[in-house]
Amino acid sequence: MKDIFDTHAHYDDSAFDGDRYELLDRLFSDTVCGIVNQGTTVATSRFSLELAHRYDNMYAAVGIHPECADENSLSQLSIIKELAADKKTAAIGEIGLDYYYDVPKDLQKAVFEAQLELANELSLPVTVHDREAHGDILEILKKHKPKGIVHCFSGSREMAAEIVKLGMYIGMGGVVTFKNARKAVEVIKDIPLEALVLETDCPYLAPVPYRGKRNDSGLIINTAESIAQIKGMTAEEILRITRRNAEKVYNIG
Ligand code: NI
Repeated sequence: MKDIFDTHAHYDDSAFDGDRYELLDRLFSDTVCGIVNQGTTVATSRFSLELAHRYDNMYAAVGIHPECADENSLSQLSIIKELAADKKTAAIGEIGLDYYYDVPKDLQKAVFEAQLELANELSLPVTVHDREAHGDILEILKKHKPKGIVHCFSGSREMAAEIVKLGMYIGMGGVVTFKNARKAVEVIKDIPLEALVLETDCPYLAPVPYRGKRNDSGLIINTAESIAQIKGMTAEEILRITRRNAEKVYNIG
C-alpha cells in the first residue's frame, strides 16, 4: 500500500535539518505517494520548490502565511507570482488569517485577499490557514470563491458544510486522533468523504500515539485509522479516496 498523500507539510522546518533527505527518501520508497510542501514566506516558498524539484512526487505551495505578513508582503507578491509559474507549484499557500497572533487584522486580510486574487488569476488552488478567524475566513472565501483546501480544519460542522458547498476541501490531520477531538469528529461524520483530504502539518501535530513528537507523512496512517473508525470503513479505503481527492484538488496525476 502506497496511498498516503500528505496535502500539507513543512519539510523546510529546522526540525528536519538533521535527516531531511534520508527521511523523505524513506517515506517515498515506503508508504507515501505525494506531499505538498507549504510556503510561509518567499524564502520557504523557494525552499518548497527546491524540494519539489528533488522528488518526483513532491510539490510546492507558494505564498505568505498570515503570521509572517508584514509591510513588505504585498510588494513580495510579484516574486510569489514568478514562483507560481514553476510547473511543480501546485497551489498558492499557505495563506489565510490567524487572529491568535498580533499581526494587524487589516494587513492580514489585505495579504490574504491579494493572494486569493492571484490564485484565481493563475487558476491555482489555495491552501487556507484559519486560526480563530472562522467568520472572516468564510466571508472572504465566499467573496473570492477559490478552489482549494481549508487546512487543519477547526471550525464547526455548520462551517464545514459551507466550505463543502463552496466546492472546497476540508484538511484533517493528527488532531482527529486526540482525545478532545469532539468537534473534528462531528465534522468528519457530517462531510462526504469526497470533500476530505489528509495532512500532517509536520513537524507539528503528530497523531496519537506519537502526540508531541516530530510528525512526518508516514504517520498519516494513524490519522486514517481514526477516520476509518468514525466512517465505518477501512484505513486503506480512507487513504485511497483521500489520495484521489488530493490529486484532484491539486491537479496532479
Ligand atoms: Ni501549515
